[in-house]
Amino acid sequence: MHVGYIQTLPSWGLPAENLTAVVDAIRQARRIGTSADLWVLPELFSTGYLFADRDEAASLCEPIPDGPTVTALISIAMRERTAFVAGVAERAPDGRLFNSAVAVDSTGIIALYRKAHVFGNERRWASPGDLPFPVVTLAGARVGIMICFDWRFPEAARTLALGGAQIIAHPSNLVLPNCPDAMVTRALENGVFTVTCDRVGSEDHAGQQATFIGRSRIIGPDGKILSDGPADRPFCDVVEIDPARADIKRLAGGNDLFLDRRPDLYRP
Ligand code: ACM
Repeated sequence: MHVGYIQTLPSWGLPAENLTAVVDAIRQARRIGTSADLWVLPELFSTGYLFADRDEAASLCEPIPDGPTVTALISIAMRERTAFVAGVAERAPDGRLFNSAVAVDSTGIIALYRKAHVFGNERRWASPGDLPFPVVTLAGARVGIMICFDWRFPEAARTLALGGAQIIAHPSNLVLPNCPDAMVTRALENGVFTVTCDRVGSEDHAGQQATFIGRSRIIGPDGKILSDGPADRPFCDVVEIDPARADIKRLAGGNDLFLDRRPDLYRP
């Protein structure tokens, strides 16, 4: 299968414009003979990242799956015969707001995940996620989802891998420099493919400032970097992978990444 990412420079508060940028990137890729069965998009790709407070965030959050962004992603998936994992600002039926990600394909929404490890000023508006780390069949592979800062907690990727994920889709808005390297370890220690899709640019909003580091990456189960995006500009890349490679947890020398675990000793 082919997996790809679309590293964007979102326009704050303009979901329709940000969706158009995604469609343009997919069409541009097609013009040069490239397409992906699964595209990963950044965290909060349709809204931008910094919100002054809960009220401002609420004005841009959407119900899932019936809001305009997820509805549009499903239409694009139908038209382009593809699937997406994308970060979306969610307004839940009970009024809580979440920094969420969806998996969608041409049949509709396949998974919803709400960011477990809410980062920094996201706490001004987002409730901590209350759903399990999902692993779903998408584009013929078993795909797990985590969002950005979840990388800093190895349990997130481990939970997805133990749940059977072959690919970890990782929508991100990275501000710390360490994640691209850390994801090599996350892929290697779990024997999975990882697709981190970051954004670029800066936001200066309501007394908050963030600069995003780009450097989206696709990494193989052996820790090999298969795609390495630039730090400073929108970029899109596609890699052909065999997801079944992630089912092999055997290591050279007769060890096994999962069977040799010692959960009986894994406590403080
Ligand atoms: C982050 O979790 N967006 C840094």
